[in-house]
Amino acid sequence: MSMQIPRGTQDILPGEIEIWQYIEQKSKEICSRYNYKEIRTPIFEHTEVFARGVGETTDIVQKEMYTFTDRGERSLTLRPEGTAGVVRSFVGNKLYGEASQPTKLFYTGPMFRYERPQAGRMRQFVQFGVEALGSADPAIDAEVLALVMSIYYELGLTDIKLVLNSLGDKESREAHRDALINHFKPSIGEFCSDCQNRLEKNPLRILDCKKDREHPLMQTAPSIHDYYTEESAAYFKEVKQHLDQMNLPYVVDPTLVRGLDYYNHTAFEVMAEGEGFGAITTLCGGGRYNGLVQEFSGPETPGIGFAFSIERLIMALKAQGKVPDFGNQLDCFLVTLGDEAKAKSVELLYQLRQAGIRCDKDYLDKKMKAQFKAADRLNVRYTAILGDNELNENRINVKNMETGEQVEVALDTFITYMKEQVEGGK
Ligand code: HAM
Repeated sequence: MSMQIPRGTQDILPGEIEIWQYIEQKSKEICSRYNYKEIRTPIFEHTEVFARGVGETTDIVQKEMYTFTDRGERSLTLRPEGTAGVVRSFVGNKLYGEASQPTKLFYTGPMFRYERPQAGRMRQFVQFGVEALGSADPAIDAEVLALVMSIYYELGLTDIKLVLNSLGDKESREAHRDALINHFKPSIGEFCSDCQNRLEKNPLRILDCKKDREHPLMQTAPSIHDYYTEESAAYFKEVKQHLDQMNLPYVVDPTLVRGLDYYNHTAFEVMAEGEGFGAITTLCGGGRYNGLVQEFSGPETPGIGFAFSIERLIMALKAQGKVPDFGNQLDCFLVTLGDEAKAKSVELLYQLRQAGIRCDKDYLDKKMKAQFKAADRLNVRYTAILGDNELNENRINVKNMETGEQVEVALDTFITYMKEQVEGGK
């Protein structure tokens, strides 16, 4: 039996989990300020959901999905991303019929992609994402961008860049697509086999190719900016105006295309700029996907969203020295001497915990000195010391570990005393 953890996965242990909880809490809190509600969809879906949703020609669908056949001969896939499942749920649960529109949702959970693992690229990773369905107002594009940037800024990240583009509407993209085919076709033999396949199916993807990045035709490829319809240009302009109103900095990059098929109009990524960051600098990706709801047989509904992985966010926080000190995790440690005191500590500990105090005691029959050491290691704020003598005399000693001050307290007032100390010190 292989006891090794699968490639591209990780255990998140105590000591590291605090930063995850901190990010999740902060992101959820910001979502609630923006009136986005949490949705939880299954970790696996019918393969069709992603094949149709993400796009047959994408790397994700062609090379990266964890697909299996279940015992009922159904083809299922571990979700490689969150949007397709959310849209499937939006249609299946008729969320478009709810009184309050647009439908503003956020989610977090594990995603799975069979990719070559490296720093910041895992086979199982956790995305935090947002989807706003039902509005084609450029102000909601700006809202979604403001939301993600607020998460990054409020976590303390500074060396980040919002890169923005518009992929235009269907008409703009078709004109651009024809121009791309004409541009690449005469020399397509010089490109990798993936690009050769992409030429007719999805030439935009060629611009995203990692292998052929340096080919001179990449630099001279026609830009979508020259093919916008009037509406597309106006839409993009308004999104930018709203960002300007909010003083949210961004750079426009006409070569930003994104790796999933469902995008149109606004597309964006947030990039890490700081030194010491690994090769993968994209922290977050998102964009508008008008038309995706119809793909799932729902009514015509525009949508926009983003997702970032918590793994990459943690890398950025660490690179920029922005991981906070999570401080005291425990308020009190009970040290006992003698059998009666040891037995009594079970009751005291229970009462302390009932009173909301985070506390613990020794369970390994350690000597008193070793119990103090354990308390030190836990970095507790208070140590309560109870010996058989004290117990008989109805008293207990409480030591403030920060000041070193020690006081004697009547045992029957101990819980109230501790509660006052702990709450007063917060
Ligand atoms: P995506 O660009 O494929 O978009 O992924 C979004 C983010 O997920 C990336 O920017 C990165 O932070 C993280 N990510 C992707 N793959 C990995 C990996 N192998 N290891 C670690 N992190 C990874 C989407 O998934 C879209 N569903 C985003 C979206 C939502 N668009 C509209 N709504």
